[in-house]
Amino acid sequence: MKVSIVSTILSAALATASPHFGMASLDNWKPAGHGDFRGPCPMLNTLSNHGFLPHDGRNLTREVVINGLSEGLNFNVSLGSLMFDMALVANPEPNATYFTLDNLNRHNVLEHDASMSRSDAYYGNNHVFNSTIFDKTKAYWTKPVLDVTMLANGKLARQIQSRASNPNYTFTSSMEEFSLGEVAAPVIAFGDIQHGRVNRSLVEYFFENERLPAELGWTRPEKVISLTDISKVTEMIRNATSLITPSKSGSRSGSTKRDLHGGMFR
Ligand SMILES: *[C@@H]1O[C@H](CO)[C@@H](O)[C@H](O)[C@H]1NC(C)=O
Ligand SMILES: *[C@@H]1O[C@H](CO)[C@@H](O)[C@H](O)[C@H]1NC(C)=O
Ligand SMILES: *[C@@H]1O[C@H](CO)[C@@H](O)[C@H](O)[C@H]1NC(C)=O
Ligand SMILES: *[C@@H]1O[C@H](CO)[C@@H](O)[C@H](O)[C@H]1NC(C)=O
Ligand SMILES: *[C@@H]1O[C@H](CO)[C@@H](O)[C@H](O)[C@H]1NC(C)=O
Ligand SMILES: *[C@@H]1O[C@H](CO)[C@@H](O)[C@H](O)[C@H]1NC(C)=O
Ligand SMILES: *[C@@H]1O[C@H](CO)[C@@H](O)[C@H](O)[C@H]1NC(C)=O
Repeated sequence: MKVSIVSTILSAALATASPHFGMASLDNWKPAGHGDFRGPCPMLNTLSNHGFLPHDGRNLTREVVINGLSEGLNFNVSLGSLMFDMALVANPEPNATYFTLDNLNRHNVLEHDASMSRSDAYYGNNHVFNSTIFDKTKAYWTKPVLDVTMLANGKLARQIQSRASNPNYTFTSSMEEFSLGEVAAPVIAFGDIQHGRVNRSLVEYFFENERLPAELGWTRPEKVISLTDISKVTEMIRNATSLITPSKSGSRSGSTKRDLHGGMFR
């Protein structure tokens, strides 16, 4: 009850009359209808479902993306602009000034194998939410509050599953960067950026409904989110993907020697 009152007040405050796509708000949510484009990115789909981005998923210009990310998630203008530049390459038209959510489905441009919630293109649909795949990721989300280790475990597991089964598995270093950003996104939007933690219920609700988790008590971040925040969480996830645990301090030269011996004589 309390949660819904809070979200009603908040969404009223957030509602913006846009000449292009009507009232955007946390309460105004409608999944894609016939003829609406959606893509592999749950966050952009979600912003379109709420009308923070065009509901039809088309004509996402720089201005539209900057405004949508700012109104929906309090993203800094320069961050919104950067994200637009990253997505724009998915539009195959030369010198395009917009992209559509459907452009993002092009395999191995931005969309990649071993996604957290989508099937590999090799097995069929690479952009619609797939609960079988998401269950595989969630198997590693073992506590009510996710930390970067659980998130990294889910990411690594998906890569191993994919590489072990998909003969066409592709995962370049630039895809690794996108993948890290995707894993970081729920922490940035719904969680604690400083400590790299996020309530699991909010993340699952978001993926499964492509809806901002306002009815679970989430509110738009009060502090403007900038590239520094994204970089910080991304680096925390990157660090957590290492399967090597820290060595004892001060044993650096000694351990190198031991390692060589171990390799030679075992
Ligand atoms: C896309 O949006 C821009 C800016 O709002 C507008 O000028 C343009 O006509 C739109 N294009 C299409 C194809 O809707
Ligand atoms: C937005 O980000 C830029 C570059 O990271 C920074 O210079 C600027 O201060 C930020 N603005 C706000 C309002 O946080
Ligand atoms: C795209 O932009 C480049 C550089 O400004 C220009 O040379 C080229 O003709 C443009 N292509 C189209 C199809 O507009
Ligand atoms: C979900 O992914 C699995 C594994 O790739 C695939 O077999 C299944 O057909 C997918 N389901 C849908 C509805 O696309
Ligand atoms: C298979 O891999 C190649 C090379 O990475 C890629 O171009 C192609 O899109 C992939 N196809 C599928 C269906 O995964
Ligand atoms: C996570 O959010 C849900 C929904 O608001 C709430 O019921 C739950 O207590 C939260 N969990 C933790 C560990 O804070
Ligand atoms: C990532 O690991 C490096 C090396 O241990 C460390 O210096 C850095 O502070 C870590 N980054 C974050 C964001 O935790």
